Amino acid sequence: MTRTTDDDLQYGFGTRAIHAGQAPEPVTGAIMPPVFQTSTYVQEGLGRHKGFEYARTRNPTRDALERNLAALEGGRHGLAWASGLAATDAVLKLLEAGDHVICGENVYGGTHRLMSQVLSHLGLTFTFVDTRDLTRVADAVTPATRMLYVETPTNPMMRLTDLAAAGELARQHDLLLVVDNTFATPYFQTPLSLGADVVLHSTTKYLNGHSDMVGGALITNRDEVAERLAFLQNAAGAVPGPMDCWLALRGTKTLALRMQQHDASGRRIATYLSEHPEVRAVYYPGLPSHPQHDLACRQMRGFGGMVSFELGSLGRAERFVESVRLFSFAESLGGVESLVGHPASMTHASVPAAMREGMGLTDGLVRLSIGIEETEDLLADLEGALQQVAGVS
Ligand SMILES: Cc1ncc(COP(=O)(O)O)c(C=O)c1O
Repeated sequence: MTRTTDDDLQYGFGTRAIHAGQAPEPVTGAIMPPVFQTSTYVQEGLGRHKGFEYARTRNPTRDALERNLAALEGGRHGLAWASGLAATDAVLKLLEAGDHVICGENVYGGTHRLMSQVLSHLGLTFTFVDTRDLTRVADAVTPATRMLYVETPTNPMMRLTDLAAAGELARQHDLLLVVDNTFATPYFQTPLSLGADVVLHSTTKYLNGHSDMVGGALITNRDEVAERLAFLQNAAGAVPGPMDCWLALRGTKTLALRMQQHDASGRRIATYLSEHPEVRAVYYPGLPSHPQHDLACRQMRGFGGMVSFELGSLGRAERFVESVRLFSFAESLGGVESLVGHPASMTHASVPAAMREGMGLTDGLVRLSIGIEETEDLLADLEGALQQVAGVS
């Protein structure tokens, strides 16, 4: 766990991305934080050391990343984890057997799997509700409820939760509000400023941005929560290695520039798809036709590069993903390269079919992670693939 300083937080986003937590290394003056590839540190004597004893507990490269990520979210404490799911696992370990969690029904499939197939066996209970409607959340609160866990926008239906209202509700019922900010990134949305207690990231995605590591992060302003999470980081040990921290840290330096391009192409591609005769529906909060577009404009500063759309059948979705040439058919999102995924059989395969269908996550749904290639080339690729879909039932 590292703490941001007032200095870290005083600058604009792009400046914080490059400087927060990253003073030149004092021994050599290296301008980039070194990869401290070590498992342990020599101590001078009993209880006398430089603050580093063992690398599961602390590592200077990880410290730099944690401070940087906290500064980007406008938070005080950052903690890095071995993956986004390790971060989810850790935040849920703040709870005890018998505690109850209300979770958005449309979250990443792995988040649902961790809750319903792992932690529910250890005594936590979960209710999955549509958090677009906060009265449903209020109705689900029981005396045992301790946490409200939401993703906004959600993967892959691009649903939003009103964070200011959710924060208010969480305060009323003394719940910890955890927000997975992976899709929006702190460039477009800062949940801590709207009432969240903990922000979660899969740093594997936009924060790293180059599809070359797996990691996670938790950011909070609450000292006691940060202390417990740091305890869990050391006690349970799901920490990232220094090289992965370094790669994530290199990624955040260009986050602002990358997000601008993801967003510019995202808006154009969502509009193009919404006018295309082969496309049945488009899910993108930046479209005025999105039912929560006004909320998106209130709580987000941009809409990003994630776009889902409905092609009407498994056969048409299959033809589409096999016809694209620039877009690669692969799991994951948030990299510089464009990807296409089929949520029902990939990221959300572990979600029960009835639940998937209930929220519109059909076999005909396709999800794009729009990279930072030339928008015109991406549009041409999509047009070529959609022409292949024509006539398929
Ligand atoms: C929104 C969201 N949160 C969390 C995760 C889990 O992250 P990781 O794959 O780094 O464990 C993912 C992975 O796709 C995701 O999309």
